[in-house]
Formats: sequence, structure tokens, C-alpha cells
Amino acid sequence: MSSTVGVAVLTLIGVYAVKYFKKYFWDLRHLNGPSPFLSLPIFGHAWMIGDDIPRYMDQCAEKYGPIFRFDMGYLPTVIIGRYDDYVDAYKLEPMNGRAWSIMPFVRNLFGTDSKGEVFGVGSSNGPVWAEQRKFMHINLNRVGMGKAKELEEIVEQEVEVMCERVAKLSEVGGVDFQKLLPVAINNVIWRMITGKTSKQDDPFMVELTDCMNRHFETLSPSNPISTLQQYFHRCTKVATDLGIIKGFKDILKLRDTVAEQISELQPESEGNFVERFLFEIESANPESSFYGKDGRRHLFGNAVDLFIAGTETTATFMTWTFKFLIMYPEVQEKISNELCHVFGSAKPSLDRRDELPYTHATIQETIRLNPLGVFSVARLTLSPINLKGTPIPKHTQILPYLRTINRDPKSFPDPNEFRPERFLDQDGKFVFDERVTLFGKGKRKCVGEVLAKAEIFLFLTHMVHNFRIKPAPGQIYTLKSNPGLAFTSDPYQAVVESR
Ligand code: HEM
Repeated sequence: MSSTVGVAVLTLIGVYAVKYFKKYFWDLRHLNGPSPFLSLPIFGHAWMIGDDIPRYMDQCAEKYGPIFRFDMGYLPTVIIGRYDDYVDAYKLEPMNGRAWSIMPFVRNLFGTDSKGEVFGVGSSNGPVWAEQRKFMHINLNRVGMGKAKELEEIVEQEVEVMCERVAKLSEVGGVDFQKLLPVAINNVIWRMITGKTSKQDDPFMVELTDCMNRHFETLSPSNPISTLQQYFHRCTKVATDLGIIKGFKDILKLRDTVAEQISELQPESEGNFVERFLFEIESANPESSFYGKDGRRHLFGNAVDLFIAGTETTATFMTWTFKFLIMYPEVQEKISNELCHVFGSAKPSLDRRDELPYTHATIQETIRLNPLGVFSVARLTLSPINLKGTPIPKHTQILPYLRTINRDPKSFPDPNEFRPERFLDQDGKFVFDERVTLFGKGKRKCVGEVLAKAEIFLFLTHMVHNFRIKPAPGQIYTLKSNPGLAFTSDPYQAVVESR
């Protein structure tokens, strides 16, 4: 009997060893990259990176070429660093998976629905993802994202409050955009999904924003602490109570707070995002992911997704943008002149965006060079694909490396220079360049791109039209970034001068 058990155990170990060998040492053998023997369980190759992730990854891209293997975490990972390969890959249907969908920490932390999918849009796959994403897209458009005037009114309200706060803070010292922006941008999403408005210094909103910031910091794909936390998430509470880590408790707190706040809303076919979702739940058939308990938990998943995906990203983007404007005062002056020429003393508006070629060009250059975008968000192959003649198996993580995509010297001469003029033609007209990449590609690209671009435009133009943003005494401004899901700037102070 005991020998039968022994044989069974050995067989199981043997089968596991063969599968492991195939996955980590055989399937991706055609690809360049560091040795697969250096890919450790749980960490992958990420332990090799060190402090300066962009610098290390730039060196890898130079050494291994535009497509290479570098395991970020436990999944075999293919890094794509060239625009054409990225676009070709993202046209393939099996590329529409999300790596988080199979990660144990995400599945255990948030739970899964009756079809085995993670709740919400950002981490689910297959028909559930398609159904949830379609609803999110259509209904964000209906509650404002798709209506320029409504969208402008919602964002403008927050921009104006922020401008008042900036003026006051500058009088008594300096302005910390990293603190001010997330709450202002959070309020935009909050209003769209719940119809509620809240003040930018409302303790609830400040706490919600802090929760998110802390969670974001833990999500860097290469951060060993974050990786450990992902796999030992059951210890998170103990470690949190001991003050060692905070990230996961924060995201659950965020979900529960949102759930509590929206519990009083009722189904309404023409209401805000949550009310429309509740209406959809009421009329869902049993096959639908909106049906019953699943539907309600997908609602919380959607709300958390919108906060995570829609706030910190935009706020971090703007924090970097204002830093660029401080570092390049001549760019700021050109934008200001253009705004004065088009709007005079009136406020900038979205409907006249096309009359502002230099401003447009600066925004596109900020998207291209923004240190926030080191990597895109990881995808997952849902079945085997062929990438430029290289077979890539199912459940491989695909991570576009945006730095080499956006800094390809063949597409953008002197790629590291911040030069908005590169996007103006000889008549001074703005030239849109689709190779500038930050919001993803294909069927799974960012749902909130329109909203994010409207926010970027309105926050930038209102600030520059009202103020000259200047360096605070004694501050040094660099583009050094800190890892997270979006790479953040070191905190900095600025002063403003009314125009
Ligand atoms: C500067 C701001 C933003 C940046 C840089 C950004 C970037 C991205 C990227 C790179 C992705 C993954 C795309 C892919 O897999 O190809 C994504 C997905 C997503 N974004 Fe954004 N985003 C921003 C703002 C927003 C806003 C304002 C919203 C909400 C209204 C939003 C909602 C989402 C959602 C829900 C997804 C998941 C889509 C899916 O998995 O199907 N994002 N975003």
C-alpha cells in the first residue's frame, strides 16, 4: 500500500516537473533574454532589476532586442518594445486576456463569480469581460464621457476649485500637485458613477484617495515586496496590523466604502452609472454576468476599477505634466500665448481645442515622454499565438515596454528631448501621431481615454491660463520615477504667479 502511495506521489511530482520544465525552459526557448535558470519561483526575473527600473529595462531592450523574455513575477513574460510588433500582436484575438485574471492574489482577494471570473472589467476575461466592458463603455458615455458639454461641466467644476486652492496654497508656501490632483480627479469619477458631488477637502474623499495611492504603490510588476505580498496575501492583515504593508487592506477598504456609499441608490434606467447598473441587474437573465448576487459584486468591481484605473493614472500624468512645464518655462509661455490669442480673458473650452495646435502638440509630447508610462498594463495570452514567427504558449504574460516604443529614434528623432514642435507641420498645424502610445491598443484599450484626455486638456489649460507655474526656491526637478502601477514623481513643491 505504502509503495503504491509512493509511486503515485512520485508520478505526480514527475508530471509537475515535466510541466514546469516545459513552461519555463522549453516553450519560450526561441526568445532572447536572461537565462531561464535566473527566473525564480514567484519573482521570475524581477529580482534582478534593482532600484532604477527604466534604466535596467532600457539596457535589456538594447541587449536583447525588440521582443524578449523577462519574467515579471511567476508568469513567463514576453516584453514587446517596438510599436509595429505591439500593434500586430494586439490585433490577435487571444491577446485580449488580462494577466491579473489568473493571479491567485487577485482571485482570492476579490473572489470570483459563478463562471469563475474576477469581478469588474479590468481583471476579468472572456464573455464576462466582454459583457461588463460593453456596459461600462456605453454607460460612461451616457453619464457624461460621450457628451462634450456635460463632460466639460463636470471636469471644469473641479478644475476651478483646484485653481482656487492652488492660489491660496501658493501664498502660504508652495503647491504640492501630487496631493491636490488625485482628490480633484477622484471627484470627477465619483460624480459620474454616483451622481454625488463632494468637496476636495472632504475627509471621506481624502481617505478614499489615500487608500488608492497606497494600493497603487504596491502594484509595481517588479517590486519584490509587492510580489511577495501578492502570494502571501493571507498574511496581509497581520502584516498590515504590524505596520509592515498596507496596500491590500486599502483596496478592500476602498471597495467596502464604495459599496456602503452606493447602497442607498435605486435602479434607474436613465440615472447615474450605479443606478443604470442596478437597473441592468433587475432585468438580467440567469446566463448574464449581471444576474443576482454576481451582478451586485460586479457592480462593486466596476466601481473599484473606475477608481483604480481612472484616478491615480490621470493624477500622476498631470503631476508629471506640471513638472514638465516648470522644467520648460518657454513651453509654458507658448501655451499661455496661444490661450490668450484664442480665448482672451474667457476660460478655455473643449469645443475650441482644434484652434490650439501648440497646446495639442505639448499634450502629445507629454504623453510620449511621460515617466508614468514605463510599461503598459500586462495582458495574457488566452490561447497560443505566433508573434513574428515565435510561438508563444497560452497563459504567457505580455508586457509592452512603452519607453522604447515612445522613444524609438526612427519615429521620433532625438527621442529623449522634450520638444512639442515635433508634432507641428510647416504651417504650424498639429499632427496627430498614432505611434505615441499610452492608453493601450485593440479591443482592451483604456475605456476612459476620452475622459482622461478631456481632464488633461482642461486641467492644463485652466492652470496655464490663470497662472505662471514656477519652481519653488531650493527645489530640484528631475524625471526620476518611483515604481508603481503608474510610475510616480518624487514629491515636489511649485509656486504660482497669477497672470
Ligand atoms: C492618463 C490617464 C490614463 C492612462 C494613462 C490609462 C491607461 C490605461 C492602460 C494602458 C490600460 C490598459 C490597456 C491595454 O490593456 O491595452 C487601461 C485600461 C483601463 N482604463 Fe485607463 N488610463 C487612464 C485613465 C482612465 C480613466 C479616466 C478611466 C475611467 C473612466 C480608465 C479606465 C480604464 C479601464 C476600466 C481599463 C480596463 C479596460 C479593460 O481591461 O478592458 N482609465 N488604461
